[in-house]
Amino acid sequence: FGVDSVVSLNDFERYAKDLLPAVAWYYYSTGADGEHSLFDNADAYNRVHFRPRVMRDVTRVDMSTKILGVESALPMYVSPTARNGLGQPLGEVAVTRGAGAAGILQVLSHYASRSLEDVMKETKEGQKVGWQIYTSTDREKSAKQIREAYELGAQSIWVTVDTAILGKRERERRATAEREPAAHDKPLTPPLPKNSAAHDAGLTWKDIKWIKSLAPGLPVVVKGVGAWEDVVLAQQHGADAVVLSNHGGRQLDYANPPLKTLHDLNIHSPSSIHQPNFQIFVDGGIRHGTDILKALCLGADAVGLGRPFIYAATGWGSDGVQKAVMILKEEMEIGMILLGVNKLEELGPQYLDTSKL
Ligand code: FNR
Repeated sequence: FGVDSVVSLNDFERYAKDLLPAVAWYYYSTGADGEHSLFDNADAYNRVHFRPRVMRDVTRVDMSTKILGVESALPMYVSPTARNGLGQPLGEVAVTRGAGAAGILQVLSHYASRSLEDVMKETKEGQKVGWQIYTSTDREKSAKQIREAYELGAQSIWVTVDTAILGKRERERRATAEREPAAHDKPLTPPLPKNSAAHDAGLTWKDIKWIKSLAPGLPVVVKGVGAWEDVVLAQQHGADAVVLSNHGGRQLDYANPPLKTLHDLNIHSPSSIHQPNFQIFVDGGIRHGTDILKALCLGADAVGLGRPFIYAATGWGSDGVQKAVMILKEEMEIGMILLGVNKLEELGPQYLDTSKL
């Protein structure tokens, strides 16, 4: 198939399922336990409806914004996902090229198949890359990794905090237990470390200061917040942004869908939402431009997508990644015009009915 035959992000998923070696498909697509959070992440968007306004001049739609102080063509970025090389030989570099062409930020995973150095070499002028870390109990090792990312030119440090231990991912476990992997299933990167010291379960809020000290001037993003109270704590401890996320349903099953966490924040601490030097991102289950508009109406500054970019890169490399962004862009534009707004700042809760959320 040519990439032009792809009409929606869900098409990429269907094609990728056929194309990927089984072990890779199960690794990418699995959620934890009964996969309730995986399902509910997307379903939460289905439970929110629009209240479109008509008879307004909607001839000047503009979707550009700033993410962590840097211009972005759209209010979205590539979430960090491990091991993109399982189905795409170029791995994360394919994403770098696509994200560069589309003008959006890529956040590289700690467990990427390609090094930050490789990725930085592929960036266009002005293109930004964030780097995500899982802090280890070996603090010196983590400090060294953050300093390296800083020196290599990472634009921001994303510390993932919902992975003190890996979730129990049933489909992935079954897939690897039930069959001997065929030769082509062999991962390009070593398996994720089983050693629990690779993820520090002792990490606390005071460590934000430590992380910030290792990358002077770079924004630090706390990724994996699932309750509104932790947004307030992140602000109090000097983080520059949070990602409301349950890790794409791969960690604590039944963790709130991120859209619900954002809704809770609106109810319990509305003043946390539009702080001048603090941004709120949301990821998990975002598959259409309308999902993005809903998150923005509730006060998100931008959204991240994980699996769709892996699937897009599987079949079509950087062209697929760029196409995925263009699909979302078209959907957002149609959505904004039909909703009656020209600018992202105009979006607000008045455009939503959240009574079924
Ligand atoms: C992830 N995610 C993730 N997050 C992170 O901080 N570091 C990582 O290495 C990974 N690895 C990873 C691998 C795979 C295969 C998936 C699907 C996800 C979580 C990711 O950043 C993001 O939170 C979710 O992917 C968002 O959900 P969607 O967009 O995949 O529904």
